[in-house]
Amino acid sequence: MNAPRKVILREVALRDGLQSEKRFIPTEQKLELIRTLAAAGVKHLETTSFVSPLAIPQLRDAAELMARVEREQLEHEVMVPNLKGAQRAIDARADRLILFVSATDAHNRANVRRSVRESMSDADAIFSLANDHRVPVAVAIAVAFGCPYQGPVSRSDVFEMARHFAERGADRITLADTSGLANPAQVSDMVAFFRGRLPDVAFCLHLHNNRGIAMANLYAGYLAGIDLFDTSLGGIGGCPNIPQAAGNLATEDAAFMFEAMGVETGLDLTGLITAARMLEEILQHPLPGQVMKSGLPEVRPTFLV
Ligand code: COA
Ligand code: ZN
Repeated sequence: MNAPRKVILREVALRDGLQSEKRFIPTEQKLELIRTLAAAGVKHLETTSFVSPLAIPQLRDAAELMARVEREQLEHEVMVPNLKGAQRAIDARADRLILFVSATDAHNRANVRRSVRESMSDADAIFSLANDHRVPVAVAIAVAFGCPYQGPVSRSDVFEMARHFAERGADRITLADTSGLANPAQVSDMVAFFRGRLPDVAFCLHLHNNRGIAMANLYAGYLAGIDLFDTSLGGIGGCPNIPQAAGNLATEDAAFMFEAMGVETGLDLTGLITAARMLEEILQHPLPGQVMKSGLPEVRPTFLV
């Protein structure tokens, strides 16, 4: 059996979630949310991104937020699009950089105004800078399962990108279904293909829920051996450069499923629900998460044998 006994849910609501909100959420409220997540057992956060404040004004407080976060219990990973972002993130003492590059030119241009080739050659300077400061770098490959602008994406093209970055020192690659186009059969196939050929690289799945099948995709990835998933409290987020982006997989929903199956997440479900309801109050609109609405069942689900 490939399926892990323990999984890590990386919390991306602060970055992927808040970047899609219309309103700027004050730094103080972001810090309160982080404290509530930490109390629920969250240890791995994608805390913010160091991008242009003109592109994503919602995260313009990245440096201030990083200066004020609690660091003992929490790993603060941050997204960067270019060398300037990497320098700012290192100055802010990020625990890890996540460089994001799309699998297609059309999405990469919409997101970071560069061709894939240009982003890939910029990456060399980022790896070298991060290496000098002993900061690990992961790469997130956006639209890895299909692109809303360009259509199908070739598995071998995505794999060549992953191999290129692994050779330059990426110890983790995130395969991102940025537009909710993946299906479980494709996820199983991609995961087996990539893990088999890059056994020293950790893989993470980032699955958007535009069409309601992200949880099935997550489960397919889990069965194929993945133990690291990006999830977002309350299910908020989605990519701002994708038409009809409609949410993420809710952390508390994924945690509920894993815990019900006896797979450890290290997370406290009651604490996550508290955090999701708090987030809903901060954002002042209903969130897509489901367990935060239904609550926990009185009888914990278990296997009948
Ligand atoms: N952080 C802050 N400022 C940045 C920056 C960064 N990482 N990268 C560039 N800038 C600044 C430059 O210093 C320059 O400022 P100036 O006009 O005051 O001199 C300005 O932005 C333009 O620089 P340029 O290199 O021409 O960038 P661009 O306008 O082509 O934009 C990106 C490119 C990557 C910076 C921008 O598209 C971006 O931040 N995209 C992020 C999108 C995103 O986060 N999407 C969601 C993630 S899935
Ligand atoms: Zn996302």
